Amino acid sequence: METKVIAITEKSDALALLPAAEILQKGGLVAFPTETVYGLGANGLDAEAAKAIYQAKGRPSDNPLILHVADFAAIDKLACNISDIARKLIAAFCPGPITVILNRNRIVPDAVTGGLDTVGIRMPNHEIARELIRLAGVPLAAPSANTSGRPSPTTAQAVLADLQGKIGAVVDGGSCAFGLESTIVDCTSEVPTVLRPGAITLEMLAGVVGEVKLDPALAGADSKPKAPGMKYTHYAPKAPMIMLEGAKEKMVAGLLAEIAKAKAEGKKIGAVVSSETAKNLPTDVVTAVYGSREKVDEIAMNLYESLRKFDQTDVDVIFAEGTAEVGLGLAVMNRMHKASGYRIINL
Ligand code: TXA
Ligand code: MG
Repeated sequence: METKVIAITEKSDALALLPAAEILQKGGLVAFPTETVYGLGANGLDAEAAKAIYQAKGRPSDNPLILHVADFAAIDKLACNISDIARKLIAAFCPGPITVILNRNRIVPDAVTGGLDTVGIRMPNHEIARELIRLAGVPLAAPSANTSGRPSPTTAQAVLADLQGKIGAVVDGGSCAFGLESTIVDCTSEVPTVLRPGAITLEMLAGVVGEVKLDPALAGADSKPKAPGMKYTHYAPKAPMIMLEGAKEKMVAGLLAEIAKAKAEGKKIGAVVSSETAKNLPTDVVTAVYGSREKVDEIAMNLYESLRKFDQTDVDVIFAEGTAEVGLGLAVMNRMHKASGYRIINL
């Protein structure tokens, strides 16, 4: 199949989006931009369309899809028994980079929820995304628009690198503002529980509802997360990646030591690091700069594109500089740990 590229320059260019909406109405797949990452959309009420998503991504079928809506009324059609706490979170953060897990209504197909009694719902804060949902006239089931296991795409080019020829169209709306997937909050437990950290931080959630928990499974490699997708090796570049963590002052010396060791083994080396650290690395190291280590939002925005850069190179190993696990840094480090398969060197 030929994948149409639909470029949108005006933020709400409904006319240009009509062909994309038509593909969705016919059960096809369309990748579209959101403020977090690009999503791979299909009619979320059509089990067959949802199944096509799993096939295009090579995604395990027990990994549920989240439903994207354009307005608040749609949430009550898809979910039931919505708690007061859930409503507070929705009012405070939707539209925005958050997915709430709610009890599902029967109208949501099993193919979307992976057979769970709950459904993930997200209202993107992105005009193109919401306009496309409105035009399609149905909620859009949409995982990140990457091949399963690969870094999520933050540009239309990254979507095409994985899915060209496998989907009907990609709507090109430029780069995504946040660059990391939404915060997932399970609102079916008494205390809301963060299943995946994101741009809506623990601190922001607690500011609205008081107590929030972090899914204990986020702590390490051997745990069983409640968001089925969090258990897979994820976000990974093609070469193995090793994290370096510890005090800033130790980073350059630690990296240089690891680089020297790997060189002695005859390896070609890549590094994904801050601009501050990059200045100190040998010129023969293939370096991707993810931004300043003082600006975690910059790191979040550039992380996946930095990881994807190495796929055009022949590096044997990638060393990655860690950052502090606070605020948005929690989400950044969660993704980096998964990308590294929890290969971590503590300095
Ligand atoms: O920012 C985002 O959330 C992006 C954009 C496109 O909206 N979407 C995204 O979808 O990251 P995906 O499928 O790549 O990740 C959704 C995660 C998966 O780990 C899945 O297991 C989890 O959400 N999930 C979905 N429904 C769930 C449910 N009912 N209970 C627990 N986890 C659920
Ligand atoms: Mg994903």
